[in-house]
Amino acid sequence: MNKMADFKEKYREYLSLLEEEIRQDWQEIPEEQEMVFSAMQYGLNGGGKRIRPVLCLAVCDLLGGDMKAGARAAYALECIHNYSLIHDDLPCMDNDDLRRGRPTCHKVYPENIALLAGDGLLNHAFALLSDRRAFAGVPPETQLCLLRELAAAAGAYGMIGGQTIDLLSEEEQEISLSLLEQMHRLKTGALIRCAARMGCILAGYTGEEEKIFEKISTFSEKLGLAFQIKDDILDVTGDEQVLGKPIGSDAENEKKTFVSLMGLPAAGQKLKELTEEAVASLADFGEDGWFLRAFAEFLLSRTY
Ligand code: IPE
Ligand code: IPE
Ligand code: MG
Ligand code: MG
Ligand code: MG
Repeated sequence: MNKMADFKEKYREYLSLLEEEIRQDWQEIPEEQEMVFSAMQYGLNGGGKRIRPVLCLAVCDLLGGDMKAGARAAYALECIHNYSLIHDDLPCMDNDDLRRGRPTCHKVYPENIALLAGDGLLNHAFALLSDRRAFAGVPPETQLCLLRELAAAAGAYGMIGGQTIDLLSEEEQEISLSLLEQMHRLKTGALIRCAARMGCILAGYTGEEEKIFEKISTFSEKLGLAFQIKDDILDVTGDEQVLGKPIGSDAENEKKTFVSLMGLPAAGQKLKELTEEAVASLADFGEDGWFLRAFAEFLLSRTY
């Protein structure tokens, strides 16, 4: 069997668990609020890679967690991610008009509705994750642990904190490499680490003291940082048609990125090193870690 074909097939399998979960939702949409639901769905179903849900499901699968509950957790993660992108593209943030090859949410819907659609997805994530029926297969304490993990990663100690540093750094001439790294770890890394840790929690590994939890945390921290470095690189070297978002947006906004601070070759080197370190942290899983290893390689070489 071809390794790449196996990876693609497994990826599709995880995706279909997520898509089924999404499909079963949104049964009743009140007519008066139709516009905000429509904007939420526009954000949610725009053809993203869905790497956070896949990561959550892959870790859950690796560790023998409940995949039905996993699909629900994965869906909640994707809601948070898409809310963050709708807001990230707004004129008051990165002011971008293109995402996934389509006009951004605020270009299709009024800006105030796009703002609300982001808020709607944020709240929807916690409604999904706190629904006891969807988590019948896991103890209530485990569900509480998932909720806490997501709230912490998405909040001001996590993603929102990172987005704050990102916006404020536009005004600075220069920022230190350590602040840049912190910004990336928070704005992007926090949710990616959270996705992997939610997979762990679903399988009953809930604490730092547990070796498996620690290994998965290390893997996903490295992966999360690498992911944003690659995003920075693609903003310079990417093909707009393939990437589906504007090239050069970071430079235009005077963003501080790994490319602007270190230059392209050094950023590429850092990306490669982090990916290698991420893969190395999976050593204990042996052959069973094959999908996560392939996942890290896929993120390293992605063009979109
Ligand atoms: C883009 O995330 C924003 C960052 C955190 C870098 P993705 O590259 O995962 O976006 P989609 O969902 O696949 O479009
Ligand atoms: C986005 O980073 C991070 C979050 C949305 C939390 P970017 O601003 O670099 O993402 P893109 O390039 O617009 O997708
Ligand atoms: Mg941004
Ligand atoms: Mg942006
Ligand atoms: Mg970017």
